[in-house]
Order: sequence, then C-alpha cells, then structure tokens
Amino acid sequence: MQQLRQLERDHPGIPIPPDSPTRRVGGAPREGFVKVPHSAPMLSLDNALNEAELMDFDRRVRELLGDESYQYTAELKLDGLSMAVHYEAGNLALALTRGDGAVGEDVTANALTLRTLPLRVADPPFPKFEVRGEVIMTHAAFERLNNDRREQGLSLYANPRNSAAGSLRVLDPSITASRQLEYHAYYLLVDGRPALDSHWDSLELLTRMGFKVNPKRARIAGIEPLLDYCRQRGAERESLPYEIDGVVAKVDSIPQQERLGWTAKAPRWAIAYKFSARQADTVLENIDVQVGRTGVLTPVARLKPVVVSGVTVTNATLHNEDYIRELDLMIGDTVVIERSGDVIPKVLRVARQGAERRPFSMPAECPVCGAPVLRAEGEAASRCVNSSCPARLKETILHFSARPVMDIDGMGDALVDQLVERGLVKSVADLYQLTAEQLSGLERMGGKSAAKIVANIATTRERPFARVIAGLGIPFVGERTAQLLAEGLGSMDELMSAPEGRLQLVEEVGPKVSESIRRFFAESHNQELVARLRGVGLRFESDGPARAQAGPLLGLTFVLTGALPTLTREQAKEMIEAAGGKVTGSVSKKTSVVVAGEEAGSKLDKARDLGIPVWDENELVSRINS
Ligand code: IVH
Repeated sequence: MQQLRQLERDHPGIPIPPDSPTRRVGGAPREGFVKVPHSAPMLSLDNALNEAELMDFDRRVRELLGDESYQYTAELKLDGLSMAVHYEAGNLALALTRGDGAVGEDVTANALTLRTLPLRVADPPFPKFEVRGEVIMTHAAFERLNNDRREQGLSLYANPRNSAAGSLRVLDPSITASRQLEYHAYYLLVDGRPALDSHWDSLELLTRMGFKVNPKRARIAGIEPLLDYCRQRGAERESLPYEIDGVVAKVDSIPQQERLGWTAKAPRWAIAYKFSARQADTVLENIDVQVGRTGVLTPVARLKPVVVSGVTVTNATLHNEDYIRELDLMIGDTVVIERSGDVIPKVLRVARQGAERRPFSMPAECPVCGAPVLRAEGEAASRCVNSSCPARLKETILHFSARPVMDIDGMGDALVDQLVERGLVKSVADLYQLTAEQLSGLERMGGKSAAKIVANIATTRERPFARVIAGLGIPFVGERTAQLLAEGLGSMDELMSAPEGRLQLVEEVGPKVSESIRRFFAESHNQELVARLRGVGLRFESDGPARAQAGPLLGLTFVLTGALPTLTREQAKEMIEAAGGKVTGSVSKKTSVVVAGEEAGSKLDKARDLGIPVWDENELVSRINS
C-alpha cells in the first residue's frame, strides 16, 4: 500500500483509477443497518513505519508551514474501531460506525449501551456537536468473552479489535451491552469542522464534558521530544490494559491544520507512527494434539521458547490439519510467530525449512483413549469417535459445571480429573449420585468441603430448564440459544421430538443448529443421558407459557389433509400453532389455507371448489420461516 501510494505520488501525470486501493478507507456498510452520511468524511491516517518516516513527516510539515513554529498533540493509537457520535441539546442522538468513510452505519441503539459514552452532556458548549473516537475492548473483557465462548463451544474471536467490531455491529443491542466495550474520544466537531482552534484544547474540553479521553496525551514541540514520546509509549505497550498499535501525532493548531490540508485519503497534518508487529522467529520442536469437549483434536505447536515483546512464548495453536498443510509446516522448521492481542500466539508462516524436517499427521487413534479418529467429509476438524473418551468427559463435566451453565461451585480441574480417573463419574448424571464419603477419599478434600460440594450439586436441581439445555453440550447450542430454545419449546420432550422445521421457528436457530440438535438427540447414549438427568430431578420444563400469541400465521385457520412428506400430522399442527395459526378438522368458508400432502382426498377437492389456497409442506415451512 505504501509503495503504491508512493508511485501514485511520483506520477502525478497518470490519473489515479477510481478503484485504486489507496482510495479505499474501510469496509462497506453491511446490510441490516441504516446508512447515514457523515458530516465530514472519516478518513484514515498515513503511517510512519519507523523513526525515519516519522522524521520525514515532520520535515514535510515544517516545509509546508514555512518558518512558523508549531506543536504536536500526541496520543495513543488505540486498536479498535472508530465511531462518530452526534449530540443534540446535550443528548446522544446518533452514533455511526465509519462504514466506507463517507457513509456510516447507524449503531445508536448499541452505542447507548457503552458505559464510557455519556448519554447526556450537561451545559453543552454547543447546541449540536459531534464526537469521534475509538471503541475498544480491554484485554480483560476480551479474555472473559473468549473463555465464555470456549465453554459454550462457540468460535473464538482472534483479537480484541475483532471482538470490539463484532460486538458493536450486531443487530441486537443486548449483545453489545454484555460485552463491556469502552469509548475513548479523540475529536470534537461542530458542523463537520473542529470545534476549537487547538486540538489539545478540544481534548481538554471533551474531558470536562464527561468523555473518556486517553490520559497519555501530550503536547510536544520538536521532533526529538516526539520520538521520545513514541519510544516511551512503545516500552509501555505490554503493560497497558488494552491494545494499542502506535502513536498518533497531530499538528495542534487548527488554522495550521487547514493550511496543511488533506490528500484524498488522509490529513497532511497528522501521522500514525506504528509500532513494529510483535513477531519473532523460532523453531517448531514438536506438534502435540489436544482433545476438547466435542472430541475435536487440535494440533498445538511446541516451540523453542522465544521472547516476543516481553513475553516468553512456548505454544501456539495450529487449528487443524488443513492449516498445517496450507503453511507447508513441518516439525523442525523455523517459523514466524505473532502475538496479536490474543493470549494464544499464532504461527504465521515458515521462515526457513528445517534440515531434517518431519511432516505431521493427525493420529489415527485418540491420544487419550486410543479410539479411532475420524474426519468427516467437508469438515476441517478431526474427532475422537469415543463419546466417553476421558478427555471429552472431563471437558464435558467442566462445561456442565461452569458458572453460566449449572454453576456448581467448587467443581474445578483438579477435582474433575480425580472423579474421571477414579471412575466415579462416567457421565454428568453421575454427579448427582456422588456421596460425601466418596469425595472425602479424594486428594486435597476434607470432609467439610466434600459435604459442601455434594450440597452444591444438589441445589443445581433448581436451575432453570435453559441451563439444563446448555449443560447438555449440544454443538452450536450455547447459553443464549439454549435460552431461546427453552422459551420457544417449553419442555425437554418438545425439544427432543421437534422436527428441524419446528426448531427453526425459534429465533436465531438456523439449519446448522437445528441439524446439530436433531443429530444429538438421535444418538442413543444422549437419550440415555437425558433419561438419567430426568431421573435425578433436573428441571425439564420452562416456567413461562410456550404458546405463541403472535407469529407469521396469526389469525389464519388451517386444515390438514393427506400425508405430508416429512412432518406428521401432529408436528404440522404444532408448528402452525406455534406460529400463531389454528388447525381445524373440516374445510369451510372460514378456512384460510388447506395444507395438502399425498393422497389428499375430498378436503382438497372442497378447497378447490371454494377457491381456498392450497399449500404443500414446503410452502408451509417457508411461510412460517418468513
Ligand atoms: S485521529 C483524520 N486519533 O486510527 C483523523 N485516530 O488510521 C483520523 N485511531 O480511523 C483519526 N486512535 O480508528 C485518531 N488517537 C487517535 C486514534 C485514531 C486510534 C484510529 C481511528 C482511525 C485510524 C486512522
């Protein structure tokens, strides 16, 4: 990008094509959000990738300003996503993501949930103003989120920046609210122009107005002190609670900024000094395989210890077999690893092939239980086929006991290891049969704590039905989906028997989730598990009523006739009722729709006579889904 931009600068005679990537600023707004034009374009900044480039920038500024003196305001470059927030009469009125720079996406409902963003500014200095700043997620919030997602069997976010973006740009504001995002302001505008004559003064005013403004800011004259500021911030980088990727230096005076002006993409009065990426070379000494709760085998790189920006790295995830093949990675190679805000470092590529390199292959047998390992067609993951593999069982028990699921206090790693290794627990249902005597025989377990744990387990019989669903560990069914399923279906019996079409009537349940649920309950050992959990007295029903008072079929009266290809008569009836419709036995003028299958008889004829619409099963399901 830097080179292309330089070429374009060096050849002013050649017109820059309208689709040159140098003109592109960000991603296009995604569907589902209302698009709103920005008061002034949200452009990005040019980068200085080293000290020499920062000095070049300073030289250009000096030359363009003639002999005038000038100052910089230097700030941290926060690694999140930018958001513009408009206030009217002191009230937060509109929040926009950057979008494509010219047009943003309206995320007001989500922005309202950010606690660091004032909803109201008392005694506003301007009747209308706009604040621009960065939405970020702290390392702590990021790790909490990913831990929760891991427990729920959901995919993990790669870094705090992606998860901040994923948390802000969701259609459901309650998700944003749960994610603990922060907003740091760095720009104050009125009618699309800087509000005051000094950027520094704007930041001070923003602080007084109640915005969070990064405290590491400094007003600096001269390139040497600016370089010092950059070096200090670089040294502090690892100890900050959030991710930064550099320093932003802005010419402080707005009149001077105006004289310096803008290129098509970025201001000439500001620069982003980027810290070097946190990469290092090291030797891949071995590849181990770990088995997770769903039986997925994950290859893990064992690395020759190497210090990357102050942290010693010894392991990195390799995701799956394909990832290793795509990188053409072999044991003994020297690899480039990167820490990018995530706790788990990544292997980016092979730097040098090892002299005696040795290929990795996924073991044919599970390293924990020895059962066969299978890789389903079209899937990247290899799985241990043994559903009672001790590795899976341990992870399953930990998941079942986790805080957002059944919340069994005291059920930690060490205890679960012993329970599984001594054969005391072979399924989560066995937890409810444990006695204090059995537990007090375990290492580091006194009689008192044993009794306590038995009591803790007993109290989980009162946990709501939604948590029981989450505890089953159905792939793709996390805490939230479990809640929606509990509300939508009302009981375990319904959940176990509902056809996929019915499951998909539940909010957020698509084909992937419905198929996973059906497949889970089709397995006999899962049916046994459910039967045992019923036997120990867990709650198998929701509190609230499950019947729909609304839905796409509300007010319509249906008659079913003939044999439908996949649904039984009873299931079709339930689906219609769940979608707000009513089912009666005979066709009359009051009938809205006749749903006909094979060998439909006189009812179908009568419907045709009366001019009543006739649907097949497909039509019924797609109407309900729409
Ligand atoms: S000033 C024209 N200040 O970096 C002024 N940006 O590449 C542009 N960023 O899109 C923004 N911290 O998302 C500014 N203290 C800071 C910043 C900052 C992070 C981001 C912002 C912008 C990108 C520029």
